Amino acid sequence: MNGSVLEAIGTPLVQIDSPEGATIAAKLESFNPGGSAKDRPALAMIEAAERSGALEPGGSVVEPTSGNTGIGLAVVCAARGYDLTIVMPASKSPERRELMRAYGATLELVEGEISEARERASEIAEETGALEMGQFENPANAEAHYRTTAPEIVSQVDGREIDALVATVGTGGTLTGTARRLLETFPEMAVVAIEPEENAVLSTGEAGEDDYQGMGPGFVSDLLDVELIDSIETVALPRAEEECRRLARTEGILVGQSGGAASVAARRVAERLARPELECPEPPQIDLFAEEAATTDGGDEAYDDCPLVVTVFPDSGERYLSTGLFD
Ligand SMILES: Cc1ncc(COP(=O)(O)O)c(C=O)c1O
Repeated sequence: MNGSVLEAIGTPLVQIDSPEGATIAAKLESFNPGGSAKDRPALAMIEAAERSGALEPGGSVVEPTSGNTGIGLAVVCAARGYDLTIVMPASKSPERRELMRAYGATLELVEGEISEARERASEIAEETGALEMGQFENPANAEAHYRTTAPEIVSQVDGREIDALVATVGTGGTLTGTARRLLETFPEMAVVAIEPEENAVLSTGEAGEDDYQGMGPGFVSDLLDVELIDSIETVALPRAEEECRRLARTEGILVGQSGGAASVAARRVAERLARPELECPEPPQIDLFAEEAATTDGGDEAYDDCPLVVTVFPDSGERYLSTGLFD
């Protein structure tokens, strides 16, 4: 039994449809209590503020966010008894707003994008004394992935070597924290960043316009350690959305746009690394009525040679139903 819902943070790593001669595994972050990867940094940022004394019992928190960090903070603040105000661009999906309200957060919508939300949150912090978490600069954001996401992956790959980590970039917390920790165990691993094709700041140095929810903030976040990145994949939004529908309909995995982009990019990387001459081992199939637990076939040697690409699906498609994503 867990002492609180916050102890239930943690997600499965699941093999998805992979090209011949390679394996792609995705971390399904929708399994976290607040439904996204952002539960991890939300808890880590609140704990860091508690430890430093910046946040005292019954204190107030304010944060600009395009959604998932707000929901993560709403979960953590509800469980820990803090007052929370979220500033969010009005363009983001209604499900996100309703979820934050359901957890008792106060919501302020602003016209424009995340930069406008950041300005307004700073004003609120100044006016009310509420503590801003600063997810774009706060080291606890990346630290959360260093301390939780990556160690989970290391134990979930069952001794297999990871050849590439493919991760979307918003604040850069997921990529920076996960890559840093995984590189300690797999020093040869390639780190691939994903960004919107129409807003490819990392690849081109220029911001553009796009409608992705959660990734591609249009600037390079302070938190993103660009030195870790070996290459960048850009994915157009219509292609990512098409992949969301494929994942839902053929694999039973419901993800948001950034998860669709992660899947497209991971597939490209896996196709480049694939060694079709190898027979990559299949993971055990579930059999609820089996007398004995299934064991993997293939054996350790095949595992060692078969290229493994790990990616992160940041949230669930349920969060975007009203946008027509799955129509
Ligand atoms: C849906 C979604 N995808 C991707 C990301 C990017 O994650 P990170 O901020 O850790 O770079 C976020 C978070 O901002 C998100 O909410």
